[in-house]
Amino acid sequence: MTNSNHISKRVASLKPSLTLEISAMAKTLKQQGKDICSLSAGEPDFDTPSFIVEAAIKALKDGFTRYGPAQGDAELREAIASKLSLTNNIPTDSENVLITNGGKQAIYNLFQAILNPGDEVLIPSPYWLSYPEMARLAGAKPIAINSSPKDGFKMKLKELEEQITSKTKLLILNSPGNPTGRVIPRSELEEIARILRNHPHIFLMSDEIYEFLISNEKKHISIGEIAPDLQNRTFIINGFAKAWAMTGWRVGYLAGPVDVIKKTIALQSQSTSNVCSFAQRGALAAIQGSRESLQIMVNSYNERRRQLTEGLNNIKGISLVPQDGAFYAFPEISKYKLDSLTFCKLALDEVGLALVPGIAFGEDQCIRLSSAVSVETIEDGLKRLNKLVSKLID
Ligand SMILES: Cc1ncc(COP(=O)(O)O)c(C=O)c1O
Repeated sequence: MTNSNHISKRVASLKPSLTLEISAMAKTLKQQGKDICSLSAGEPDFDTPSFIVEAAIKALKDGFTRYGPAQGDAELREAIASKLSLTNNIPTDSENVLITNGGKQAIYNLFQAILNPGDEVLIPSPYWLSYPEMARLAGAKPIAINSSPKDGFKMKLKELEEQITSKTKLLILNSPGNPTGRVIPRSELEEIARILRNHPHIFLMSDEIYEFLISNEKKHISIGEIAPDLQNRTFIINGFAKAWAMTGWRVGYLAGPVDVIKKTIALQSQSTSNVCSFAQRGALAAIQGSRESLQIMVNSYNERRRQLTEGLNNIKGISLVPQDGAFYAFPEISKYKLDSLTFCKLALDEVGLALVPGIAFGEDQCIRLSSAVSVETIEDGLKRLNKLVSKLID
C-alpha cells in the first residue's frame, strides 16, 4: 500500500520499544559471528523455576487449554488478592484484580480505561520507556518530573507540586525503578501521599514489577500500604516476569477500584480475552509456592548489581550513585561530552558493546546497563567500556 493516509493518527508517531530493538540487534550481530557483549537486556538470565514449569505442563494435561474468564482465573486472582492483602498490607478482593498479558498490558488497559484526550500524566524521569508512549496512545500528555543523576534520581517533590494542574489525571510511581534501580524510601512515599491528598482529582499508578528484586537490606514498601485513604484512586501494577523469570509467559496483573477494573475487563474481553490458560496455572504455582528459588535469583542479582556498580565507578569519567533494586545501572556519562545515542553507537561499533541510551528513558546524560547477565559478561562489558572511554579521553 502506498497511500500514507492508511496509518491511523493514533499510531502514526508511536515509537517501537528501543530496548527490545537493541537487544534484538545485539542477538542478530552475535548470530552473524560478530564479537558482541550485550548488557542491554531487561530480562532475567535464569530459566523459570522447574516447579512452575511442571505446574503449567500439568495444567495442559489437565485440559487448561480453553477460553477462560477475561478477568483471569478465579484462583489466581484470589491468590494475588491474598498476597496484596497479607504481604503488602493493601486490603484487596479478587474482584479488584485483573490478570493481564504481562505488566505491560495492565498499564495499557488502565490508561485506556481512565485517560481522556487532554489529560496530563505525571511521570518521574528517568522513566520506563513505555509509559509516555502508552499515555499518548490514550490521547493524554506525558509530563516529565525531572531528577538528577547527581542525587541518585530522587524525585524533586517541589517540581511535582508545581507540575500539578487541573488537567493532571495520573501520577506514575515505579519502585524499584527501571532504568535507575532506585527504591523510593518510605519518607518520600509519605510526602507524595501528602501531596496527593491535596489533589483529589489525581489517580496514582504504582508499578511494582521489581518488588522482589531488592537488596537484602531494603524492604519493598507499596504506597498502597502507606496511604490506605487513597485506595479508591490507587492502582497497583505487578507481574511474574521479573521475579520468577517468566518473561515469555506473559502474566501480569492490575489491582485497583472495582469500577475501573470492570471497564478494563470489558476492554480485555473485546481485545485479547483471557491470558493463556495454562500460563495462569504456572503463575498460580509461582505465587503459592516456596520462595526459595526466587531468593537464590535475587541474591545473585544483588551480587551482580554490586559488581557492575563497583566496576563502573572505577572507570574514569563515569559516575553512579549505588541503587538497591532491579538489575540495572544507569550511570552518568556527560563527562565524555556525547549524547547517549552517539555514545551507545560508538560502544557497539568500536568495542562491540550493546548498551541502551538514556535518551530512551528521558535522560540523555546516562546509559543503561543490565546486570542480569553472567559475572563473566559483566567483566567483559566493563573491560570493553574501559577501552572505549580511554579512546574518548585521549
Ligand atoms: C518498569 C516496568 N514495568 C512494566 C514492565 C512490563 O513487564 P511485563 O510486561 O514483561 O510483565 C517492565 C518490563 O520491562 C518494566 O521494566
